[in-house]
Amino acid sequence: MTSLVVVFKKIARTCLMCIYRFEKWHTSPAENRDYVKNIIEILNKKKSRNSVVEIGCGLGDIIRKVDYKKKYYLDLSPNVLEAAKFLTIFSKFRSEDSFCVFDFVTDSFLHPVDAVVLVNWIHNIDPDTLKNRIDVIVNDVLNESGFLIFDIVDENRNYQFNHKISDLLVREDLVIREYECNKFDRRIVVAEKK
Ligand SMILES: C[S@@+](CC[C@H](N)C(=O)[O-])C[C@H]1O[C@@H](n2cnc3c(N)ncnc32)[C@H](O)[C@@H]1O
Repeated sequence: MTSLVVVFKKIARTCLMCIYRFEKWHTSPAENRDYVKNIIEILNKKKSRNSVVEIGCGLGDIIRKVDYKKKYYLDLSPNVLEAAKFLTIFSKFRSEDSFCVFDFVTDSFLHPVDAVVLVNWIHNIDPDTLKNRIDVIVNDVLNESGFLIFDIVDENRNYQFNHKISDLLVREDLVIREYECNKFDRRIVVAEKK
């Protein structure tokens, strides 16, 4: 039954790709990526759930399914954002949604939020840039007790950079938790601002 649903979703997303002209990667349904479910659970268990931003949100498979009042969908690709906007029709939660073309490396996000998600693309960002941008997020964007969530994959030869938590989070105002995912030795890191 589950695999039938996945096949159906793959076909629906392929049709969506023909309309919105986003990259083929996004046709893979969320059920193929177990980190999606893990991160949704972590975000929905958080006590203060007013606002969340996902940078590099793609079709919004994570942010669309979390119960927050204000959601910021940010991505480099205007096409995938248009499709993400369309998919909010199917969201089970009511929220105030913003969609913005955004480059993590060069653009600044200035709204304080309770959670920031960066997942399945930070392996393309060099460690120095990533650390600097993370510092800005923790200093200027995350509310007290806010969550910064990102992923780490060890020794993946297909990835440009294999980051280490100790290179990225060199500060004492964060409580760090790690969650194992089954596939591809991916770990989810949750850094909570004290
Ligand atoms: C592999 S997809 C992952 C989408 C989503 N995070 C997920 O896991 O379902 C990576 C997304 O990150 C976006 N992206 C890559 N580099 C980015 C950057 N520098 N700033 C913002 N978005 C970026 C891409 O356009 C793409 O939509």
